[in-house]
Amino acid sequence: MNTPVYDFIENYIKSRTVRLHVPGHKGNENPYDITEIEGADVLYHEDGILGESQRNASLIFGTAKTVYSAEGSSLGIRGMLALIKMYAEKNGRRPIVAAGRNAHKVFMTASALLGIDVKWIYPENAESVVSAEITPEKLRKFLKSSEEKPTAVYITSPDYIGNTADIGGISAVCREEGVLLAVDNAHGAYLKFLSEDRHPITLGADMCCDSAHKTLPVLTGGGYLHISKNAPDGLSDNAERAMSLFASTSPSYLILSSLDRANKTLCEGYGDKIMETAERISAIKKRLSENGYVLTGNEPLKITLCTKEYGYKGTDFAGILRKNGIEIEFSDPDFVVMMITPENGEKDLEYLEKVLLSVPKKAIIDEKMPGVFPCEQALSIREALFKPSEKIHVNEAQGRILASPSVSCPPAIPVAICAERLTENAVKCFKYYGIYEIDVITE
Ligand SMILES: Cc1ncc(COP(=O)(O)O)c(C=O)c1O
Repeated sequence: MNTPVYDFIENYIKSRTVRLHVPGHKGNENPYDITEIEGADVLYHEDGILGESQRNASLIFGTAKTVYSAEGSSLGIRGMLALIKMYAEKNGRRPIVAAGRNAHKVFMTASALLGIDVKWIYPENAESVVSAEITPEKLRKFLKSSEEKPTAVYITSPDYIGNTADIGGISAVCREEGVLLAVDNAHGAYLKFLSEDRHPITLGADMCCDSAHKTLPVLTGGGYLHISKNAPDGLSDNAERAMSLFASTSPSYLILSSLDRANKTLCEGYGDKIMETAERISAIKKRLSENGYVLTGNEPLKITLCTKEYGYKGTDFAGILRKNGIEIEFSDPDFVVMMITPENGEKDLEYLEKVLLSVPKKAIIDEKMPGVFPCEQALSIREALFKPSEKIHVNEAQGRILASPSVSCPPAIPVAICAERLTENAVKCFKYYGIYEIDVITE
């Protein structure tokens, strides 16, 4: 597979052209950092090398269209929601999205900005805000009992702790009910390259976003918006238009050329490397279980430990690993999440296993998250986002209306939803996750 973007930049560097264009470092910071000069094409108005490179990616992922994001899945989520809104307009429907409650905060803010009404699908017996199990049966019930049929269903799969949803079953329900299926696949670009392809587009989603940078050898910020060959008319044709509503007009060519080079890498046996790594991880998980660890999630490139069962809060356990020179992806009171790719290599894996097996098991910590329940929605999310707000200590928050998601990344999953009037339980939840300062509407 060719690499038209990378090759163009290489030739430009070799040509020693005088750079009287942005960026201001003129190549001194990094010669590969160019902008949309003549011949470099224009992202979302492609008629040259970017178009060719995106078509390469589309071939690899088996899509009707794949467009690049130089702003991660955050931009991809905004693009998907804009497409959902366009689709609703075209069909004379009010834009409504039924979404799993564990959606990334960009989903909430972008829905509000686009005037999309969100109907949350709450998990039963959730033990964390990070997960919201949605089965095909549960979704069917939800859709059948909805007063107004949503335009789309929005699922986060894999979730942050490595659970993948039954996208095949869920997509069948969506087709039965005549609603679109959009998947936040930020953590799952690599699922395409397993021996059994588990990518959401293969399994029936109409569209999904992937953070290529999270699991493939791509620079931070590199992502894809994929549209399925089975998606209704109009989605592919409007993909660029939807992305350009939100995207920077100065996309990073370091990121774009990294995505371009990844196409070649992915075609040259990278899938085998992913499979080998997945097998290694599976063997490590088995030994960890045999040694008293409790694990969760079914994602092959993640190791998620339920650390309380081993006697530690996740955040404390992450501290132990840090002291041993291991920095993990995410921890909260319940979990420690480690993300591994073939780039880690055998040495990293051997060392990780050695350190994990050297941590002594202690008495189980029996403390549970207070639970994720809907609070009364006092306003629309959109109204809440723009009202005057103030920062207060969470101890004073009961009865106040939440103004902004008040969570950082990772995992960027809202503990309560903007515009909700916070209950005693919501306050307990914020504290459980170590969030003590929150934004509420000034009343
Ligand atoms: C589930 C999920 N969706 C979306 C995002 C946003 O992705 P990005 O950082 O690529 O913009 C993240 C980031 O952590 C995420 O975990």
